[in-house]
Amino acid sequence: MKTTAEKIKSMKGKEKIAMLTGYDYFTSKIEDESGIDIILIGDSLGMVILGYDNTLSVTMEDMLRHTSAVARGTKNALIVADMPVGTFDSNEDAALNAEALMKVGADAVKIENRPEIARFLVDNNIPVMGHIGLTPQTKEFKVQGKDEKTANEILELAKQCDEAGCFSLVLECVPRDLAKKITDTIKIPTIGIGAGPDCDGQVLVCNDMLGLYDKLSPKFAKRYVDLGIEMKKAFENYIKEVKEKNFPEDRHSFH
Ligand code: KIV
Repeated sequence: MKTTAEKIKSMKGKEKIAMLTGYDYFTSKIEDESGIDIILIGDSLGMVILGYDNTLSVTMEDMLRHTSAVARGTKNALIVADMPVGTFDSNEDAALNAEALMKVGADAVKIENRPEIARFLVDNNIPVMGHIGLTPQTKEFKVQGKDEKTANEILELAKQCDEAGCFSLVLECVPRDLAKKITDTIKIPTIGIGAGPDCDGQVLVCNDMLGLYDKLSPKFAKRYVDLGIEMKKAFENYIKEVKEKNFPEDRHSFH
């Protein structure tokens, strides 16, 4: 059955939420068939798929193409599309771009910070996942909220995202205690990445957990398998067989 934003909201305190990023038809199909709750077309797309150094070069065109690919592979999971930097600077831009993402198959959008924009989208019937803490569109890649002042600012922002009507909130790279405090304080589920085990759910970048990205390896990104190594072995095998005239064999030929 198709997962809705309301369903995700209702999971708080009952069942942990599992979320992964996905960017293409086939990977998303496998994630969906495995029972993932949410597939996020993150703007991490820019780094792990398109090879940029950060997320800032990702365009709406990129997000529309990859969101529609994920939608073609997904039957049950909630599909959340990230809004790239510069696409939600005003209410009007945010609504226009969010609607375009919904048209190609997103069930909800994710925006970094900006609770006032989230409120406008929610008021216009667009489900919004918030994202605070380390927000790569505007902040350095390091743990956020380590001192009292910044921890309080992040807690305040979390409350504002809740009040704005977000159905869930990503907490990226914040200390475990702060993530727990936020999780205990707000009504909506928190989904952590580098935020410890007390969040209501977890998200990982799928390329990180599959061993398909080697430029960054943060300590929270547990590697469940090393597909990069397996792929290299397969490619080397193929190249060797072609060079040594062992592929194709007669059984791979038409008669
Ligand atoms: O872009 C992304 O993949 C994300 C996740 C890390 C939450 O925002």
